[in-house]
Amino acid sequence: MCGIFGYIGNRNAPEIIHQGLKRLEYRGYDSWGISIIEKGKIKTVKDVGHIPSILQKELKSNIGIGHTRWATHGGVTITNAHPHLCSDKRFVLAQNGIVENYSNLKKDLEKKGFVFKTQVDTEVIVKLIELNLRSKISLKESLIKSFKQLEGRNTVILLDSKENKILAIRNGSPLILGVNKDEVFLASDPLAFNHCTQNIVEINNGELIEIDNGNYKIFDIKSKKEIKRKPKEEKLLNIDIDKGGYDHYMLKEIVQQQHTILNATSYSQKELKPLIDRIKNSKNIYTIGAGTAAYAGDQVCYYLRNIAHRNAISIRSYETESFLNVIDKNDIVIAFSQSGETADTLEAIEILKQKGVYICSVINMPGSTLSRLSDIFFMSNAGSEICVASTKVFTSQVSFGYLLSKSLINEYSLAKKELVSLSTSLESYFNAILFKKVKDISSKLKNKEHFFILGKGQNYHIAQEGALKIKEISYKHFEGFAAGELKHGVIALIERGTPVISIISEDINSKDLISATYEVKARGALTIGIGDKQFEKEKSFDYFIPCADTNELKGIANVIPFQLISYYLAKALGNSIDKPRNLAKSVTVK
Ligand code: AGP
Repeated sequence: MCGIFGYIGNRNAPEIIHQGLKRLEYRGYDSWGISIIEKGKIKTVKDVGHIPSILQKELKSNIGIGHTRWATHGGVTITNAHPHLCSDKRFVLAQNGIVENYSNLKKDLEKKGFVFKTQVDTEVIVKLIELNLRSKISLKESLIKSFKQLEGRNTVILLDSKENKILAIRNGSPLILGVNKDEVFLASDPLAFNHCTQNIVEINNGELIEIDNGNYKIFDIKSKKEIKRKPKEEKLLNIDIDKGGYDHYMLKEIVQQQHTILNATSYSQKELKPLIDRIKNSKNIYTIGAGTAAYAGDQVCYYLRNIAHRNAISIRSYETESFLNVIDKNDIVIAFSQSGETADTLEAIEILKQKGVYICSVINMPGSTLSRLSDIFFMSNAGSEICVASTKVFTSQVSFGYLLSKSLINEYSLAKKELVSLSTSLESYFNAILFKKVKDISSKLKNKEHFFILGKGQNYHIAQEGALKIKEISYKHFEGFAAGELKHGVIALIERGTPVISIISEDINSKDLISATYEVKARGALTIGIGDKQFEKEKSFDYFIPCADTNELKGIANVIPFQLISYYLAKALGNSIDKPRNLAKSVTVK
């Protein structure tokens, strides 16, 4: 949800900012803008759409800021693109977040004579600063004063041409500094500058950063006192952003799962012990997440209940409020998040922390806010996941939950064997024959509009995650259901040619899945089976995609064909695969 970048140093700022924004583009790709100071004046380039691979305009400067936008208030236009210039052209400002009291602030400012040129909430911040500057305070003071009037999770960055400096304030949306001798980087994510420096300074909510002459100062905005914080070297920042020979990050990331399920579960029993002990002493386990991370939580709860016999309940982070009367400090919460910056999840965790609930998190981004809010955290170790649709991080989170559940019943070593066995079978699973099969089936689905996925037991949440994955990239209407729900309403939607995918594993539910498939087939559905090889010849299926061999990790093996259908269907439709429309990788607004 928007990416912010700032740079002061001895390199050419526009180039560094452009590279940084390209690396932040996963956060939003509606429009972009770069502002620099040239001969004491602010110069800005802005455009809608993706950031070009080469900056057309020749700009030279050693200081500047940039922004890549995911629109909230106001359409996708050049006027609405950030950074936004103030009336006397002294400063420009870019924002990540939503000003929740925007309408009221705008009305007040209009009454005071301010005329708005854009539809974005950011302009309210610019005008508030201008208003506060009238009382002869410094720009820094005015920024602090204005920022305190904003409601919501906001982070802003400001370029001041008068004093040749950058100011930024954080509240909620992420912000991190990168530091080298004589140069400072500022970004929403260290991925933006990790090719230049791995020395980082974490910025907390309620802190202001002032950067000039390649030096930084941090201030607490309440006390206005300076906070001394030295950079620390973050080796984990060696992030791989190469496509590795694949046409898209998505396919690369799908194939990487043969390794990432092991990386996510590389923890020793000693490392897991504090969490295991805590769970053993807890009444209930709650998982929290949004989107794919919530489905990972669902699947982990399934394992905790069915393997470890624990009372485990999965919560959507944005629905936490309805559980607040029953969760207390005798419970434990496990939050799942790829980015560790999802606003809905962070807000839920902040509330639960206030109730004294012990928080464990499983995250993929080093140094993220969620890791800092947690009592204990585990890295998914999946490496950078660039495609907006999450694939390898989902299976990493589920693998971690499986290892945890088995460890709770003293079957850590058996779990490790099972994970290695799945990883080995995935090595040969990803091959040209499989890709061709999925591609052929996907091309047959290309002209259909509505699709249903049925799952039961260990495959119920896989049906839901499979549907989300395909929706995100193909823009087709996919719904994942519990197979048991079919007769209670869903079957009314089946007509001649409606594609129905049944997930079938050799378990107590296979007979029910076959019956459900016959029921939709009898009503004209086009039936596709995904699951264990032995069902390949099952007559109820018109097509079948076999999954990788595994005994206990069928949830993971069975989600992979859905990821591949998502990829090949989107490809057949000519959609943007790694950056699907309307989405962003990190949802830092509510
Ligand atoms: C995944 O494919 C989605 N893009 C989305 O649902 C995502 O999982 C969700 O927004 C949560 O993100 P997080 O894991 O970074 O918290």
